[in-house]
Amino acid sequence: MVREWDARTASSAEIASLLDTLNAVLAADLPQDPPWRERSLREYLTEVMPGQRRISWVAQADPAPDGTPGAIVGQVHVLLLGDIGVLEVLVHPSVRRTGVGRDLVRVAARRVYHEGFSSIGVEVVGDTPAVGFYESLGFTREYVETRSVLDLSGVDWADLAEMATGVGAGYHLEFHPGGPPDELLDAYARAKAEVRDVEDGELRPSSYDAQRLRDSLNCLHRRGMKPYIVLALHEQTGEVAGLTEVVVPAQHPTRADQYDTIVVQDHRGYGIDRAIKARMLLELRSAEPELTEVQTWNAQANEAMLKVNAELGYQPDRDWCEYSVDVAELVHRLDAAL
Ligand SMILES: CC(C)(COP(=O)(O)OP(=O)(O)OC[C@H]1O[C@@H](n2cnc3c(N)ncnc32)[C@H](O)[C@@H]1OP(=O)(O)O)[C@@H](O)C(=O)NCCC(=O)NCCS
Repeated sequence: MVREWDARTASSAEIASLLDTLNAVLAADLPQDPPWRERSLREYLTEVMPGQRRISWVAQADPAPDGTPGAIVGQVHVLLLGDIGVLEVLVHPSVRRTGVGRDLVRVAARRVYHEGFSSIGVEVVGDTPAVGFYESLGFTREYVETRSVLDLSGVDWADLAEMATGVGAGYHLEFHPGGPPDELLDAYARAKAEVRDVEDGELRPSSYDAQRLRDSLNCLHRRGMKPYIVLALHEQTGEVAGLTEVVVPAQHPTRADQYDTIVVQDHRGYGIDRAIKARMLLELRSAEPELTEVQTWNAQANEAMLKVNAELGYQPDRDWCEYSVDVAELVHRLDAAL
């Protein structure tokens, strides 16, 4: 049975059952990824940025003869942002290829259509059943990134300490757990805005002005995701010349996520990318003792950044693709299949 579902009011048993399904999916599709924990999972599923909405449905197995509710064997949610709906679907491996995934997408697509959105996007992990699934539904591939993972147990910390100091004269680095301090928010947002082009095509919203940045940091905190930032400041102008952001999620605190790394055009060629990333890893080593890995996503064309990541010890792991589809076509296709 598929029904609309709100993580805010769901029972703890439902949240636990969804977590079991999520971890079964990870074990089947991405066995090297750490299992998720329950901590802040409800908030992760509930909290959104101002102006965004997330709508969810679950597929639930039939109740047991004694009336015990059935397990949550599938879930879909769609995040409505700007002019696009971003979809995420999970189906427990034990019930795959029985049409559950298609049913979940159908109900979400109909809603997105009725809400007046024209396009749906989804992140699809390479070499998993999701590729065949979305292609069968008419989604097409828009963009591919490579996910790479750094195993911190293999890092040469002395080397890293040297890299962290290898920044050109006239710059200094600052570490800010929790996010940039208020007095740097404007300069930080300017640095992000300048490279907006580079981020076009990404599903993750970026923060181009101080207010949006503040909203985005608050949202991360509410979702149980702890941001860390290293900045390179240009001493002469006080401008943010470079920044790197890593987030440690309460849901999988042994593996952190690298978010944006930006070196502003005028400040390229001074070793800032390498230095800020190395400094970040050194800081995380003491700030997050449980951390064992960091994962990052890069455009395959971004050779400069891939080179620095390779020097730091990142190993390419998977293709990470963005697919999209026209909503009206998707609804039509799914309804025709009924
Ligand atoms: C992708 C996923 C949602 C599909 O769910 P499902 O319930 O098995 O999908 P359905 O049974 O509705 O399949 C519908 C159609 O999709 C296609 N499809 C589904 N799985 C496929 C596969 N492994 N290979 C090729 N085509 C596939 C088929 O055309 C299928 O129709 P058919 O069974 O009649 O041939 C499910 O595998 C899943 O949860 N994957 C993990 C997704 C994810 O986000 N992971 C993130 C962390 S890895």
